Amino acid sequence: MKDSVVAGGLDSLFYNLKLLPHELLTMIVTVLCHLKDSKALLPPSCLPPMVPHFTGRQRECEEIVGHVASTSTRIVSIWGSPGFGKTSVATAVGHKLQDKEFSVYFFSLRGLNSKSDLISKLVSFFRRASTEDEIPQRLPIDEELFQVLAKMPDKFVMILDNADELLESGAPNVKEDFVQFLKDILSRTKKATFVITTRESLEFINVHFKDHQAVRIGPLDESFSQALVSELLPNAIAASDREKIAKICGHVPLAIKLLCSTISKDSTQPGQFLEEWKESVEHNIVELVDKPDYPSDLRLKFLFESSFLRLSVQEKEAVVSLSILSEDFNISVAAAVMGVKTNLEAKKSFITLPNMVYKISLLLLNLKKNCLASS
Ligand SMILES: Nc1ncnc2c1ncn2[C@@H]1O[C@H](COP(=O)(O)OP(=O)(O)O)[C@@H](O)[C@H]1O
Ligand SMILES: [Mg+2]
Repeated sequence: MKDSVVAGGLDSLFYNLKLLPHELLTMIVTVLCHLKDSKALLPPSCLPPMVPHFTGRQRECEEIVGHVASTSTRIVSIWGSPGFGKTSVATAVGHKLQDKEFSVYFFSLRGLNSKSDLISKLVSFFRRASTEDEIPQRLPIDEELFQVLAKMPDKFVMILDNADELLESGAPNVKEDFVQFLKDILSRTKKATFVITTRESLEFINVHFKDHQAVRIGPLDESFSQALVSELLPNAIAASDREKIAKICGHVPLAIKLLCSTISKDSTQPGQFLEEWKESVEHNIVELVDKPDYPSDLRLKFLFESSFLRLSVQEKEAVVSLSILSEDFNISVAAAVMGVKTNLEAKKSFITLPNMVYKISLLLLNLKKNCLASS
């Protein structure tokens, strides 16, 4: 038949299909209209572009894509410390899923304070895809969202980045309402799968979902962290310097990016820069802390800022107030410093503070100890 089509052109095709040209045309138009209608239900993708120089993470991405594609998983949590690359992995996973024809929607929860904030954000996004008469009027906003999502033609994936914002807000009921909201969506539409990113594991913050899988994002594998250094410092860099930079940064992508960008702006060669950095760290930690524009404070500054900036106001206050204490502070003193009346309240605050606070408090205490020792 292929030959006859080539030889006889469209006339021959219509003849072979036993269709008149206008019948075939009607069929094509019907199919196209149908496709257009089902596509029209889908909002455009809101997935950020891949991060530049995205390196490594094949294992984590494959694992997450595998979970999302499996019918037995409804929610995947990607967890790990700030700067380790959760958002980057979630974005890469989104692109891989899109390549597999999944509809993927990416929302950052940064700055949201409540479930209502999230619902408004989602509704205003998904509403754009529905025409007015498709949405039953005067529905409560959450019901409107459930109905819009239930109408999605195929399985879809919602990536909720920085879910800590609602899971660890500390405000009454915010965490519980958010968790219940995700559970409601999952039970009302079997087509939805969530991918969320958090600093702590869901287990650690006592959040439990059915059909949940967790994937931890640790430091980059050594070879990939060195490969990232090479990407970021493309002008011939000695293998030993590349190794040192990756190591100094603990194979953490954000630290690597910051250090490499400082090195590339510096007039000295990477090797010399690293020598100076090493000497300054070893000989004078006070100088390192006191001179904010000194390039070698970069790693500590990064460690501190990237962790501290992501804390809630309440956590920041706790860290700052606790930093005046010595390492073996007792609970009554801590209660007084934090301005709470009872030891019980103080204990509760410690329990609700994520362990990041402890790490930062420890960092502050170490810095303080070093400063005192050197002065
Ligand atoms: N695998 C990677 N390859 C290259 N750059 C990365 C990688 N992972 C993270 N980065 C970079 O490191 C920085 C922090 O990553 P991000 O995904 O925002 O971390 P997190 O969400 O865990 O805080 C970003 O600037 C990002 O571009
Ligand atoms: Mg992130």
